[in-house]
Amino acid sequence: MDPTSLQRLVLLTSLLSGSTHQARLTVTPSSSQVFAGERVSLRCEDASEGWTVRRNTSKEIRAECGVWGTPAGSSCAIGYTDPVDSGEYWCESTGGSTSDTVTITVSGGSGGSVILQSPALPVTEGDDVTLTCRTKMADPPSAHFFKDGVSIRTEPDGHMTLLHVSRSDEGLYKCSFQGKESAWSRLSVSGKPPTTTRPPTSSFSTTMDPPTASSAPPASSLHLVFRVICHLVVFCPYCISTFLMVSIYRERARGSDPTPPTHAEQGLDDDYDDVMSAVTTEHQF
Ligand SMILES: *[C@@H]1O[C@H](CO)[C@@H](O)[C@H](O)[C@H]1NC(C)=O
Repeated sequence: MDPTSLQRLVLLTSLLSGSTHQARLTVTPSSSQVFAGERVSLRCEDASEGWTVRRNTSKEIRAECGVWGTPAGSSCAIGYTDPVDSGEYWCESTGGSTSDTVTITVSGGSGGSVILQSPALPVTEGDDVTLTCRTKMADPPSAHFFKDGVSIRTEPDGHMTLLHVSRSDEGLYKCSFQGKESAWSRLSVSGKPPTTTRPPTSSFSTTMDPPTASSAPPASSLHLVFRVICHLVVFCPYCISTFLMVSIYRERARGSDPTPPTHAEQGLDDDYDDVMSAVTTEHQF
């Protein structure tokens, strides 16, 4: 195989793997709670053309970015948030594929003077995660933190850090400061990447990973090799069948030719017959 066709094959392989990508919604600032008036920017990442941000709020269902925000490509910005912007946000393609959903709560009005700043997206198992209790003035000197309805900690500087998070840290969190409470926000913990970001169609390659991924060689290059092999396995039968169809067609065309075949051509035809019978045997097997 010459270098050009190898390059083409690599390009085709990357196109095939690209087609299995799914959009991911990212939020800036990366907090599931914001104060009213703050700017929030939502972005569909890994997305080709045709993905838009949609939302469900108490007043809207599947509302497109153009209705409530400022679209820019596959991004959407809310310049000045309002409590009615609280809701579920996700990316949706024109074909109906959807990303994971992100919940955003906009605090405002009388009860909205405290927010819990917590990651809007799932955090990765083993990461350190800091939850911050904020007031509009400054970080409070001392805040109480709650998980699933139970008071868990009082932190003198308003920050609570969870070291090496695991699934058991998942749950609903809120904080309070001088009797004012924030809204609840869910903290989700996902397995180590790339296991979680991988679409189910290629999950078979992740099962070949050793369970202790941290001590293993870089998983990304292993995955790339697996992907290339998988695509080759899919691609090769197409090459073989195309070759066979061209061979058969040429053989038929020659059969209708009135001039008798030369000795060399006769030998070639015999080779084709051999290939055909070999392939047939293989298929019967
Ligand atoms: C949005 O609301 C509709 C109608 O209630 C519901 O079917 C859909 O599942 C919601 N989507 C999300 C991501 O919450």
